[in-house]
Amino acid sequence: MKILGSDQLAIAEAAALLEQGKLVAFPTETVYGLGADAENPAAVAAIYAAKGRPANHPVIVHVAEHADLQRWVQHIPTEAEKLTQAFWPGPLTLILKRSSHIPDAVSGGQDTIGLRCPSHPLALNLLKQFKKGQGGIAAPSANRFGHVSPTSAQHVMTEFAELQADVIAGLIDGGASEVGIESTIIDCSRISTTGIVLLRPGYITAEQIAAVIGLEVKAPDQAAPRVSGALAAHYAPRTPLLLIKQDELQQVMKRLEANQQSFVLMTCGGGESSFQPSALMTHQLPSDAKAYAHGLYAGLRLLDEKKAQIMLVELPPQDEAWRGVNDRLRRAAFDSLDVLKEIKSNK
Ligand code: TXA
Ligand code: MG
Repeated sequence: MKILGSDQLAIAEAAALLEQGKLVAFPTETVYGLGADAENPAAVAAIYAAKGRPANHPVIVHVAEHADLQRWVQHIPTEAEKLTQAFWPGPLTLILKRSSHIPDAVSGGQDTIGLRCPSHPLALNLLKQFKKGQGGIAAPSANRFGHVSPTSAQHVMTEFAELQADVIAGLIDGGASEVGIESTIIDCSRISTTGIVLLRPGYITAEQIAAVIGLEVKAPDQAAPRVSGALAAHYAPRTPLLLIKQDELQQVMKRLEANQQSFVLMTCGGGESSFQPSALMTHQLPSDAKAYAHGLYAGLRLLDEKKAQIMLVELPPQDEAWRGVNDRLRRAAFDSLDVLKEIKSNK
């Protein structure tokens, strides 16, 4: 994996690599993406292979600012038009009915496509140079399937360290991703029957979306399309993660100590839980939802490195501003429900 700089020449090189069908990892304001030419099925297949991701999961196609969306979709509903005007470039992905020439590899065999114009200046620059702004870069988050998304170039390198050096041709280093959790995903492909549906909460909230389109934003129903980030176990560190309410933290830690189980701890804001001598490491995240999201994945990775038996995460506030964060934490904790039951029953 060649580390590319962030100057004009480096971006031109990255665009050329993508045009040749190679994979390039690049920064966005949410998380780093692992990109390929969306119109090259072999290149898109290489993303799935690198990630170890099942082939029936669709990927998001990233487009340049003011791109001609008609190339990708059958029709752009008024609501979707309003959303692109209000939030693009930015951390919002729209699911729309795809046009027929889009490779199946991109849509995971579904009749829709996820489109997003990211706001990170390097991503925008790359999209502007790639196929002279007329192409689309298919890019899921640049991590192994099910694992925590990367928010720095270093994270991307760590994720794919075991891969052969040339599987990912280039990596653009753009520093830490500002938002820190993946884009909000809104399904606009079934408006006439189902309305506008929130598939994945994120930085842009359902309230903000509703305010722009003047319609209620619905929760996913049975017919909602597959979203791999909506699988129960996802965004997970290797260490079993336990999400614990603040007032139960002391009790759980005492039990872990008594059982001689090693643990690391992530806290939300300061307060009495922020220093725990018995934890292998304590990492404190800010009590502001946006600042917390920004640091979340780096924090999970840092704690994961300690290879403790358990990772305790203090449950953050449950209000609307924290919805994206809580969604990711709950999925990261899914595999660990049994572990928690065991600790609690083991008096
Ligand atoms: O912030 C983000 O969205 C990042 C950056 C790199 O842009 N990308 C990202 O991609 O999170 P990924 O593949 O890890 O997650 C994209 C989600 C998946 O859960 C996928 O199933 C869903 O978007 N998705 C993509 N196309 C879809 C479609 N046509 N219908 C339903 N869901 C779709
Ligand atoms: Mg992902």
